[in-house]
Amino acid sequence: MMANDLKILAICGSPHRGNTYDILNMLEQSNPEVDFNILMLSELNLKDCFGCYSCINRGEETCPLKDDRDTIIKEMIDADGTIFASPTYARMISALMKKFVERTSYIAHRPMFFGKYAMALATCAGFGADLTCKYLTENFTQYGFKFVSSVELMVASKSESETKHNHHKARIAYQKLIDAIKSHKKFEPSLNQLVYFNIFKSISELNKLKGWADYEFYKDKKDFYYDVEVPLLKNKLAKWIAGKEIKKMKANK
Ligand SMILES: Cc1cc2nc3c(=O)[nH]c(=O)nc-3n(C[C@H](O)[C@H](O)[C@H](O)COP(=O)(O)O)c2cc1C
Repeated sequence: MMANDLKILAICGSPHRGNTYDILNMLEQSNPEVDFNILMLSELNLKDCFGCYSCINRGEETCPLKDDRDTIIKEMIDADGTIFASPTYARMISALMKKFVERTSYIAHRPMFFGKYAMALATCAGFGADLTCKYLTENFTQYGFKFVSSVELMVASKSESETKHNHHKARIAYQKLIDAIKSHKKFEPSLNQLVYFNIFKSISELNKLKGWADYEFYKDKKDFYYDVEVPLLKNKLAKWIAGKEIKKMKANK
């Protein structure tokens, strides 16, 4: 794969073109051969989820909100890799990034980004970027993404040495993303992913008669979201753990 065949999307959850944008912009400039697109959520039309459950239960196409949600998703599908970037606000992702997460959270039920690589990037002034990166990684891993790097940057003094250090760290994480995409490595589902699969499939079966989108999505899938060889023991363990979780859920009803 030539570098210019590479498509990277950066989704920036900052409400302005500030520190987080500056790092993404630096990454874009660092390799002009990569087709690099920065999406500022703040410059798109993204409405607040009002919790009607339509996307989760009846299918994402039934969401009553009409805005840029599907355009962003299409960009994620078209890219080889996505950088999820957010400033740390009150020790967490920004409210804007959280809005994006809520509007796309049906994808955690019906993951669609297998085979796509990702990187998490968080800026902060002092504390909390670790939580921001952890949240981004955990959430978007559930959508099917394979995270290969995560970078926490402290932007405080904006001194030359701080900036140089941050640029260096960010470029190493970015290079890992590019290398992973170029490797064309097949990946084996993790135990966590297998457990999630089995839990969501079991729940979809419990709700079979309601005609919900999850049932249609899972009904013909056996061991995982796509056809892949899963080691026998790992598969058994995942089904056992998922079974225990489902039992707990049933007991709670
Ligand atoms: C509302 C708000 C809350 C913040 N909370 C934190 C925080 O909890 N921890 C921290 O280290 N920095 C915090 N910061 C500082 C930002 O994380 C830091 O300046 C970041 O680089 C800003 O990125 P941006 O310019 O893209 O918005 C906060 C800033 C704002 C505006």
